[in-house]
Amino acid sequence: MEKGTLLYEGKAKKLYVTDDSEVLWVEYCDQATALNGARKEQIAGKGALNNQITSLIFERLNSEGITTHFIKKLSKTEQLNEKVEIIPLEVVLRNVVAGSFAKRFGLSEGFVLPAPIVEFYYKNDDLDDPFINDEHVKFLNIATDDEIAFLKSETRKINEILKKIWLEIGLTLVDFKLEFGRLADGTIILADEISPDTSRLWDAAGNHMDKDVFRRNIGDLIEVYSEVLAKLQATK
Ligand code: CDP
Repeated sequence: MEKGTLLYEGKAKKLYVTDDSEVLWVEYCDQATALNGARKEQIAGKGALNNQITSLIFERLNSEGITTHFIKKLSKTEQLNEKVEIIPLEVVLRNVVAGSFAKRFGLSEGFVLPAPIVEFYYKNDDLDDPFINDEHVKFLNIATDDEIAFLKSETRKINEILKKIWLEIGLTLVDFKLEFGRLADGTIILADEISPDTSRLWDAAGNHMDKDVFRRNIGDLIEVYSEVLAKLQATK
């Protein structure tokens, strides 16, 4: 497989074309962002940690029957993905109250929800990724009723697998964000990444083992992500 020209540069990743039109070469970078990109910092080693963590998680999801874009890890910072057209939705699932959900409803962080809640946010930096409902998703021609139903049920299925993976290393999966994409034939599959950048993970002592250490300045991101990776590798 040959790495070609740069196709797209996001906040934390660079996507390159390859000699196979259906495959992308993805490089994870060291940039950390918060407040929808308003705060940016280079954190040496972050790209390698997220690439290795997300690779282990996607390998596990693939082996448990979830169809994903993940093909294989190439190096500490690179992986091959199937090319998809990303659906402009951030699909968030919450098991425990935290973050924007706590703020929106005036609740304390840590309340365990009686059942998981799935939410959609419209991926649009200019609009600050607004919270939207199913009818907005349809109005914006982002997805059909059947596709919306699939996105929700697939996210709930993925939650059950992820909860198990994280619990094996002593972490509670509080919430997480997924992105899905369409293959050339229209099939919707899981894409993007699953890492402590996109998930809230709390240990038994209540420590935040995720990007909140950066967002809230409450710890060393590299130390925390390294511990998460080491524990995941040990259970492999
Ligand atoms: O993190 P914040 O409080 O701004 O937003 P949230 O809606 O509470 O985030 C819910 C989950 O989605 C957390 O695990 C975030 O890490 C993740 N998320 C993300 O990965 N990317 C975003 N642009 C927004 C949220």
